[in-house]
Amino acid sequence: MSTPGVVGYLDSLYASPGDEVTVRASVLDGGGRYRAQLVRLICGETGPSGPGLKEEPVATELAGEHMGSEQPVPISSYAIVDNIPPLETIEFSLLVWPTLPGRGTQALMALGPVRLVLDAVGAATIAVDGETISTKVPLRHRAWHRVEARYDPATGSASVRSEPLRGFHADRVAEASGRLRAGVRAAGPLLIGASPCVLRRASLAQDEGRCAVQDQSSPHPEPATEGSASEDARPLFSGSGADAATQHFNGKIEAPALRSRELEAEWDFSRGIGTTRVEDKSRHGLHGHTVNAPKRAVTGARWDGSVHDWRRDLSQYGAVHFHSDDLYDAGWQPSLRFRLPETLKSGYYAVKLQASGPPFYVGFIVSPKPGAPRAKVAVLASTVTYLAYANYRRRMSPGPFELTMGALPTVDMTDVLLAEHPEFGSSTYDVHKDGFGVGHASARRPLFNMRPTGRFWNFAMDLCLIDWLEAQEIAYDVISEHELQERGVELLAPYRAVLTPSHPEYVSLEMLTATEAYLGAGGRFMYLGGNGFYWRVSFDPAHPGMIELRRAEDGTRAWAEQPGQYYHATGEYGGLWRRIGRPPNALVGIGFIAQGFDASTYYRRTSASRDPRAAFLFAGIEDEIIGDFGAWGDGAAGLEIDAFDLALGSPPHALVVASSEGHSNAFLLVNEEMLSNSRGVDGTLNSRIKADIVFFETPAGGAVLSTGSIAFVASLAHENYRNNISRLLRNALDRFLDPAPFKLPM
Ligand SMILES: [Fe+2]
Repeated sequence: MSTPGVVGYLDSLYASPGDEVTVRASVLDGGGRYRAQLVRLICGETGPSGPGLKEEPVATELAGEHMGSEQPVPISSYAIVDNIPPLETIEFSLLVWPTLPGRGTQALMALGPVRLVLDAVGAATIAVDGETISTKVPLRHRAWHRVEARYDPATGSASVRSEPLRGFHADRVAEASGRLRAGVRAAGPLLIGASPCVLRRASLAQDEGRCAVQDQSSPHPEPATEGSASEDARPLFSGSGADAATQHFNGKIEAPALRSRELEAEWDFSRGIGTTRVEDKSRHGLHGHTVNAPKRAVTGARWDGSVHDWRRDLSQYGAVHFHSDDLYDAGWQPSLRFRLPETLKSGYYAVKLQASGPPFYVGFIVSPKPGAPRAKVAVLASTVTYLAYANYRRRMSPGPFELTMGALPTVDMTDVLLAEHPEFGSSTYDVHKDGFGVGHASARRPLFNMRPTGRFWNFAMDLCLIDWLEAQEIAYDVISEHELQERGVELLAPYRAVLTPSHPEYVSLEMLTATEAYLGAGGRFMYLGGNGFYWRVSFDPAHPGMIELRRAEDGTRAWAEQPGQYYHATGEYGGLWRRIGRPPNALVGIGFIAQGFDASTYYRRTSASRDPRAAFLFAGIEDEIIGDFGAWGDGAAGLEIDAFDLALGSPPHALVVASSEGHSNAFLLVNEEMLSNSRGVDGTLNSRIKADIVFFETPAGGAVLSTGSIAFVASLAHENYRNNISRLLRNALDRFLDPAPFKLPM
């Protein structure tokens, strides 16, 4: 399978006409020429039963051929403290909870060539300029230890020690001491959870980590040393980028301390949770910062289960969880800059990059400038959910994916490209190398899913709604959830109707509140998807462009958050909105009930569809069965589906005008619906497994229509847009655009 030869990302997932857009691209396999083109996206690859890919080139100065280099990705997180003064003696100490001991050399603390590491078997080891003394006793996987090491440059005497902190296992204190090369000067920044990437000697053969040659004009050059200056010998430490580190540690570190004759510094990771700050609590003020967003607000060695909110007892949350595959910022150099035309239509767009192989689409939203005239209809693009799904790897990883899908998984060229490039990071559906869930998603890296091609899901699926609006010649704007986060209800207020596409799954408190405020003021809202308003995310002010989530407590989830870590580093309690007390049913009338990925089915009208309040929806529709067709699974009701539930806050006056039926046994009741397992939870047996189309009026004269199925929008184009799903949506939208207020039923 041929894969894209160029990838890239933008500085923002949305822009407005007239804005300058910066493209950061990398031409893989050593750089070379590539083409770039701005395109407006109208429809994605739908398969044979849909309209297929539709894109329109847009003339900008971007168009044409460019020369590009390959840009390395400095994946992995660690902490760094610059400005360590020259030291005559060195003593490291810290608490360690390793998650991948024995998987290569992993540095705990490193000051130039003097390093405290876990060696290849996972034993605490002092390494000085490549010479080592090891305790030879591996640290226990996922257990806390105190680890210490000393080195005296004057004599070369060195020692190292590890001690398990608690538990009933038979581990013991392990110690070793001896002499290492004397006279080695520990200098440069202190790294915690990694080593500085300075390969000066062949004797540093234990550095199995790769050091990307990126910054050749280091602002913090290493002191000159003897030996030849080969390509690998060039000091690479830039002091700011993650390109500078190697020997990455996986696991938690707490209370790292550095002692010497000159100073005594100890860093308290419980200070500065929610920031990048690493605080030295000594009088020396040797503060540092984290790189690539390691996970904070995690349980430390002193956590005993008595608190679950880190803010209630910081002393139990003094740890940071580092991962060798954390990635916040790829940090690529700008490759291209261009200005969006002032007259550009609002919509889904992409910077289409192409070198060898198929194109790489860098999708983004063009929304109207603040204050510019608006259409009456807005599509609220699910940019937060796109981000949560970005760089989804599970289709290519071992596991029971076939059973989840109820079918053989299909992969496309981006799955293959991602598999070839672990350095682009993972999605919040994946787990880190050490098995812990990925709870951060950053837009500062290539995002493989904001494209119209490949797997028919989410971004590509959402274009079906755009294609339908175009076909219906309905004027619309596209706005983004990221803007909703920043601007609140003011973003929605100008619109008479706001439409979600197929899968607005990830929602922040601010987004939820703004949507509620819009409805409270008489707005009309259509939720044209499934499994929406489901997980809480928060925006981390210390990491612009990144969202955080914790899959806490319950829910249909790719991984489970660890005990004691249900609160985000932003301080918010994570998990399902349903568990937090804001179920989607209370906002849009329905909530997640089942998922299945084998085939879709149809809706059958209910008697409530004959209610005069719903008459406008079914004008011109005689059929009892609607949506028994579509580009995803031959039906409008499928993939992930939502149902009406009074107990979860669905409005009692809402009309369930149609419900799906005939789902297969691949559709299973979601686990958050069950207190205990039982038989009868599949779609062939369980009458609760259905997608409900729900309509209700709001007190301020507004209304909500929810369709409860991800596959819904994929049915709109059937038979050249002349079908009962298209008619239903058109009827609804025409009425939603009519300023006449909706009235609550008596
Ligand atoms: Fe989802």
